[in-house]
Amino acid sequence: MEFSDFGKKLTESSGILSLMDDLGRPLPEGVTPCPLGGGNPARIKEVEALYEERMRNMLESKEFLSVICSYDAPQGRMAFIRSLASYFSRRYGWPITEENIAVTSGSQMSMFFLFNLFAGKFGSKEKHILFPLMPEYVGYADQGIERNMMRSVPSRLEYYDDHTFKYILDKDAISRYLESHEDVGAIAFSRPTNPSGNVLRDDEVLFLSKEAEKYSLPLIIDNAYGLPFPSIIFSDANMMWNENIVLSMSLSKIGLPSIRTGIIIANKNIIEALSNINAIVSLTAGSFGQALAGELIASGELERVSRCVVMPYYKKKSEKCQNYIREYFEGTDYYYHRSEGSIFIWLYLPSLKISAIEFYQKLKEKGVVTVPGEYSFYGSEQQLNGGVYPHPHYDKCLRLNYSTDDESVRNGIRLISMLYRQYS
Ligand SMILES: Cc1ncc(COP(=O)(O)O)c(C=O)c1O
Repeated sequence: MEFSDFGKKLTESSGILSLMDDLGRPLPEGVTPCPLGGGNPARIKEVEALYEERMRNMLESKEFLSVICSYDAPQGRMAFIRSLASYFSRRYGWPITEENIAVTSGSQMSMFFLFNLFAGKFGSKEKHILFPLMPEYVGYADQGIERNMMRSVPSRLEYYDDHTFKYILDKDAISRYLESHEDVGAIAFSRPTNPSGNVLRDDEVLFLSKEAEKYSLPLIIDNAYGLPFPSIIFSDANMMWNENIVLSMSLSKIGLPSIRTGIIIANKNIIEALSNINAIVSLTAGSFGQALAGELIASGELERVSRCVVMPYYKKKSEKCQNYIREYFEGTDYYYHRSEGSIFIWLYLPSLKISAIEFYQKLKEKGVVTVPGEYSFYGSEQQLNGGVYPHPHYDKCLRLNYSTDDESVRNGIRLISMLYRQYS
């Protein structure tokens, strides 16, 4: 049996595969698990109560059976799409209609479709996706059907005197890159950013939007953690959309990761293309998440619970996690990225004597599961030539998901700090 080039490309080892693998693999016997890897959101009882009540109503009214018995259109469930269009145009004043929205089986799939729509082979030419601020989400790195489809610009750094830092867009480097490369098919980034918890400032998004427009490129914004739901964003950030922006949203981080529902807001041509791809790849996305959450979005309830419960919940969890870091890393050489959004804290350990991947393996032996930073640095010419990513943080960072129970977070951070002392 032999796999095609497509088969080989999508089955070889990848950062996202080992990360998802960690979620299901048992740890060594006798260790207390501290699950700080993966991307599972927290279970928040107010959010779960909304879904339970909605589910009860669906069952009582027989809506449940009508939802599960038929396929929706390739674009998605039209009642859901219409109510989203009216909600977003009312809420943000965007000039959108039902022709501007498509639904996919999760934002991971949305990004796969979008990246391969705008980059890859164009006859005899090749185009790439440009990530303007590395490090970025590990889950994008291997999504190209063609090899080496991703390109990136390393972030600039700003350090502060409270052991924190922030990744900043290198505007000059991005302008220079776009000026000298005709092979960019789209610009993409996550905001809030997985893995760092960074939130690009409004002026940075505006800059990227202008650059994208200048070169007639789509600007893909992955808003999986952003506004208006799940609203895991602690900095001042505003939403932006125009005909050139492709906004990706998800129901995963607002408590429904297993139901696999992604939402794309974009211009009509892109929506039509995504609907056609949906039809070929999966006929249509699953209806259930759309039926369950549709009314809650339209009534503003999901936005309210996101703003009043979910955001404060994660903010508090993030602050606790930062306190544990300050307590246990006291006296060591450590930094972490300012926590501006998402469900992760990104630790930078400058004195680490082994690579982050080796450090992560040693941590796993002690029951602490994290994500090593190397996987989140991709898309440099140096890597294509066998080198490492040109960023001082490349092999010195760990991503910690702080949404698990406090005791696991505290114990995990304690063990990480002990091992850091040993390996620095
Ligand atoms: C930035 C970002 N985008 C997309 C995804 C994929 O999420 P889903 O496919 O569940 O919508 C994740 C998951 O962790 C993520 O962190």
